[in-house]
Amino acid sequence: MSSKLYENGSSQAVALADLIAAQVQVIVTAYSASGQTIPSLDSTTAGPFDEPANTPANISMAIQLIEAACAQLCATVASPGHSITKKTYNYVEPACMLVVVNAKIADLLLGKPEGEHVEVLAKQAELDTGKLGRVLRLLATNHCFIEVKPNVFANNRLSLKLVSSDPTSAMVGLLTDEGLKSSAYVNETLFDPKSGPSMLPEDAAFKRAHGSPIFELHKRPEEKYRADRFAEAMIGWATVTDGNDLSKVYPWDELPPGTTICDVGGNTGHATLPLIKAHPKLQIVLQDLPAVIEQAKEFWRRENPKAIDNQNIHFVPVDFFKDSLTHGCDYYYIRHVLHNWAEVECIMLLTNVRKAMTSSSTLLIHDMVLQPLVRNTTSVFDQAPEPLLPNYGVGRVLLYQQDINMMGFVNSKERTLEEFIDLGSQAGFDFVKIWDAGEANSLLEFRAL
Ligand SMILES: C[S@@+](CC[C@H](N)C(=O)[O-])C[C@H]1O[C@@H](n2cnc3c(N)ncnc32)[C@H](O)[C@@H]1O
Ligand SMILES: *[C@@H]1O[C@H](CO)[C@@H](O)[C@H](O)[C@H]1NC(C)=O
Ligand SMILES: *[C@@H]1O[C@H](CO)[C@@H](O)[C@H](O)[C@H]1NC(C)=O
Ligand SMILES: *[C@@H]1O[C@H](CO)[C@@H](O)[C@H](O)[C@H]1NC(C)=O
Repeated sequence: MSSKLYENGSSQAVALADLIAAQVQVIVTAYSASGQTIPSLDSTTAGPFDEPANTPANISMAIQLIEAACAQLCATVASPGHSITKKTYNYVEPACMLVVVNAKIADLLLGKPEGEHVEVLAKQAELDTGKLGRVLRLLATNHCFIEVKPNVFANNRLSLKLVSSDPTSAMVGLLTDEGLKSSAYVNETLFDPKSGPSMLPEDAAFKRAHGSPIFELHKRPEEKYRADRFAEAMIGWATVTDGNDLSKVYPWDELPPGTTICDVGGNTGHATLPLIKAHPKLQIVLQDLPAVIEQAKEFWRRENPKAIDNQNIHFVPVDFFKDSLTHGCDYYYIRHVLHNWAEVECIMLLTNVRKAMTSSSTLLIHDMVLQPLVRNTTSVFDQAPEPLLPNYGVGRVLLYQQDINMMGFVNSKERTLEEFIDLGSQAGFDFVKIWDAGEANSLLEFRAL
């Protein structure tokens, strides 16, 4: 609920429009400070703030406020039935994206600013001309691709992300194929008395859509392209969403040389690699399953061989549920792991971490944290200004989309701060502090009890 100041829709609409105007000015000013203007939607040139990792916090904030305010303003002024219909129809857009990614339309349009006739594209992609044209027109209406002349389409800033060499296109493939199909089965899955309350991957909507749980499906030789696409999609997800890189989120500078950080379930260590580059006095102990650790060694040999030579990175294969983790590190860092698991497994993992710690070790959980929708004057979260929703509404909706996606894929979840604190306390940890780590990510600091 908004306060008295915004008690009617007219005052809200005007406040939202003012907020949009003010934040657009912030962004225009930031571009002019770097001698540029915001690239037009029709262009294919890269802008200085295209990657979240290169975007200053104040610019990301202005973008989130604009996204939230635009969506809220539209919902305020539009007819409710019309708004609901458009929201409901949203599923056709991902359906069209999958067609375009499979047909590699963005690849076919590379280096052709004048565009290509849909007849030529359809022929190359072995699709029906009329239908491909309709698919592209829907996407172009939503600002992905442009129609430069009737039936002639070209790439723009958004469609370039669909080029097959960009890992974002793998993420689009994963979400519009396996994600969209799983979503279609959420209704049955939730209403079913057995699968409804279950937190097991084998009861997830994914299973109904594909016949087996995701990681079983991905193990089959004939489905190898899905496993490969999944790995690539994780890289895509990280590049498009992770705001601040870890090296900027925590005061690492203040730590003594030789401070050890155990990256638990760290995969190839792509989160701790930039940390070591920025703070070469730190030591990383990377722990993941044996096969993953072998991939990690290759990754570091390629990306930062110096860290291997200087023994700044140690590779330790482990099953984090069964084996003892490396004992006595100063930090235990767990990023995007807990959201894969139900409470039981999370507590098992955290208890295992707790056993490896000394009294001076610190636990850092790096995850998305769901934010309250009700304004709270004592909240530890930064809250959006009124009349926006305190959780930044559509500006941070990706977090809530990801939460439902986790439900559909593997029956797991994103969590609220209270849920993280509760998991921690069940495994013997006291919550210390929350650090903002970009878009919807937070670093939660815990100490062993
Ligand atoms: C979603 S990934 C997160 C990876 C990385 N921390 C990141 O932020 O990108 C989860 C990781 O947990 C690892 N993992 C899953 N089960 C494991 C187990 N039993 N023991 C050790 N690692 C495991 C996976 O191999 C994978 O690298
Ligand atoms: C945004 O922050 C940067 C530093 O990260 C600063 O140089 C710039 O002046 C700020 N821009 C605005 C509009 O506040
Ligand atoms: C959705 O769930 C309801 C309740 O179980 C069920 O009656 C209905 O058939 C389901 N709809 C679809 C399309 O599966
Ligand atoms: C407000 O936030 C504080 C701190 O996070 C929390 O303890 C409290 O329960 C919240 N109150 C409400 C009404 O949500």
